[in-house]
Amino acid sequence: MSAGKKGSRVVVALDFQEVDAALDFVRRLDPALCRIKVGKELFTVAGPALVEQLAGRGFDVFLDLKYHDIPNTVAAACKSAAALGVWMMNVHASGGRAMMQAAREALAGLPRPPLLIAVTVLTSLNADDLREIGHAESPQALAERLARLAAASGMDGVVCSAQEAPLLRRACGQSFCLVTPGIRLADTAQDDQKRIVTPQTAISNGADYLVVGRPITRAADPLAVLERINADVSAALSR
Ligand code: C5P
Repeated sequence: MSAGKKGSRVVVALDFQEVDAALDFVRRLDPALCRIKVGKELFTVAGPALVEQLAGRGFDVFLDLKYHDIPNTVAAACKSAAALGVWMMNVHASGGRAMMQAAREALAGLPRPPLLIAVTVLTSLNADDLREIGHAESPQALAERLARLAAASGMDGVVCSAQEAPLLRRACGQSFCLVTPGIRLADTAQDDQKRIVTPQTAISNGADYLVVGRPITRAADPLAVLERINADVSAALSR
């Protein structure tokens, strides 16, 4: 699949603690119907070999390791991640302009560079948490500021709540990629997500890719849920 927006807008969060469980689940998916996100939980037990294996099976892999370190270290990590054949990876925007620019430069010249996305404000942090770590701004104002900085530092987009998507779309332009977790079908469990949005609303708010974990991974029939979300996305895109 290309690094563009061809193919499914759904990125299945492969949040498993065991490699075998993850692989058993992936056998039930189809790269034509979704992309896959590998985060810290699975990467810490399965490592780069699993990422290469998934890419080798034709899946576009979003490596969600949220790098945040000195520019030299993040640049080297991004280069190594790109060599695994990932489709998308991310860094923390709060690592600053020099760190994001170094990450961008590390991918320059690659024939098919992965999409490089920034995390603005973790959605687990509220205004009190931010104040405690020295930020006076509201989570939303800080997210917008960091998204603008990410765009100015050469990032392809940000991870954000679908509720923030209209604001960040206006701030960062049409070609900026918005990746939104916290997606739930109207009739499925909310789990621990607080600010949930349906696939249709996320797309109409301007999201490019929807990260969906438990509504698919814990479904009795994961493929059926995935197909339903793909259909909802197609309907919203054609409106
Ligand atoms: O199971 P669920 O659909 O809630 O999974 C969402 C995925 O998106 C998880 O991998 C989670 O870590 C990730 N995520 C999130 N909220 C953020 C950033 C990432 O839920 N703000």
